[in-house]
Amino acid sequence: MEDTPYFYISQDFYTKYFTLPGADDLMNFFVDCDKVYNLISIRNGAGMLKKKERYIVAVVGATGAVGNEMVSVLEEREFPVEELRLFASERSEGKRIEFRNRQIPVKTLKEDVFKGIDIALFSAGAERSRHFAPIAAESGCVVVDNSSAWRMDPEVPLVVPEVNPDDLKWHKGIIANPNCSTIQMVVVLKPIHDVARIKRVVVTTFQSVSGTGKRAMDELLKQTTDLLNFRDIKAEVYPYQIAFNCLPHIDKFMDDGYTKEEIKMINETKKIMGDDSIRVTATTVRVPVFRGHSESLNIETEKKLTANEVRAILSEKDGIIVYDAPQKNIYPHPVLVAGKDETYVGRIREDNSIENGINMWIVADNLRKGAALNAVQIAEKLIELSE
Ligand SMILES: NC(=O)c1ccc[n+]([C@@H]2O[C@H](COP(=O)([O-])OP(=O)(O)OC[C@H]3O[C@@H](n4cnc5c(N)ncnc54)[C@H](OP(=O)(O)O)[C@@H]3O)[C@@H](O)[C@H]2O)c1
Repeated sequence: MEDTPYFYISQDFYTKYFTLPGADDLMNFFVDCDKVYNLISIRNGAGMLKKKERYIVAVVGATGAVGNEMVSVLEEREFPVEELRLFASERSEGKRIEFRNRQIPVKTLKEDVFKGIDIALFSAGAERSRHFAPIAAESGCVVVDNSSAWRMDPEVPLVVPEVNPDDLKWHKGIIANPNCSTIQMVVVLKPIHDVARIKRVVVTTFQSVSGTGKRAMDELLKQTTDLLNFRDIKAEVYPYQIAFNCLPHIDKFMDDGYTKEEIKMINETKKIMGDDSIRVTATTVRVPVFRGHSESLNIETEKKLTANEVRAILSEKDGIIVYDAPQKNIYPHPVLVAGKDETYVGRIREDNSIENGINMWIVADNLRKGAALNAVQIAEKLIELSE
């Protein structure tokens, strides 16, 4: 069955395109051919991960901030890797990255590299994902994509394993990893929503430069050392100096004055939580921190929750550490959380300006839970679900 092409045309499809010829219909027909092709791939088994002892795994964008972290996370979590294949741009051809005490060569990403690969973790930017992820999926490999390319596609699940693992059951070869600032927020919102139904969230983020990638980390380091040595600085990655500064600007500005990052947080939260009624508004800010995103959350719920109840709800959950004893100066911050897997929550208190409101401060490592770790956890769940 797996090797037999299976062509299927629905009655609606036939009536629409084969009985009413015309220029527009013909054009639409070609557009829909893409969807039929997708259907054929799925019928032929593409997208489904077959149970194996060990897997051939690819990291696409292996030389980047997230890709590098993916390699480390695969090793630390003893992911069942039979063989690791690493890809990046042709600039990196010949570089080597260590995995399990072996130096793995980085190869140039090309269309024909995916044959035989079971799982590909993509982290090479949206343009590459848009082009290469469907090619990889069609060649039978399951793609977990870190970029924004597929996140809001209704055919692609957007998954945080602690929140919506069941969405993995309907993937068709591509699974999207959410935005880093969204991941840490929904990990905390979901348990509260389950108990008290969230009506509205107001979030302000304080995002580290590693969220932009390796070049931005280099820029913060260089500007900091230049300023401390009384030298002129250059701003190349960000529009203004980032050292000793903060910029209320992440991704590009939209016509309504929001940034794309803010819109991502709003839309992705609704998709992952499976609830369009949650109102979210966001302000995203870049700060001169190397690693770890912080977020101030104001949450309005339908049912009243006390601060102690919120602490109790969150303390029980995997992936969350309640770190909240302000009288002893115990609260999360990026330096504490860098390199950790959990989302840390502190400063939990009731918002006395509204009926049912809670304020809190959450911090997570954007390269781990915000990117590489979440992607590897998705792959681990896929293995659990595979047959
Ligand atoms: N950083 C985060 O916290 C974070 C969180 C969630 C999602 N993401 C997403 O993850 C992706 C990567 O982010 P990053 O922060 O790791 O960026 P990065 O440090 O700039 O790394 C980019 C990677 O993509 C590769 N690449 C660039 N152009 C390529 C091409 N034409 N063909 C093949 N590979 C190419 C680069 O290879 P070379 O070294 O050869 O140029 C490098 O490995 C982005 O889509 C980003 O939005 C990042």
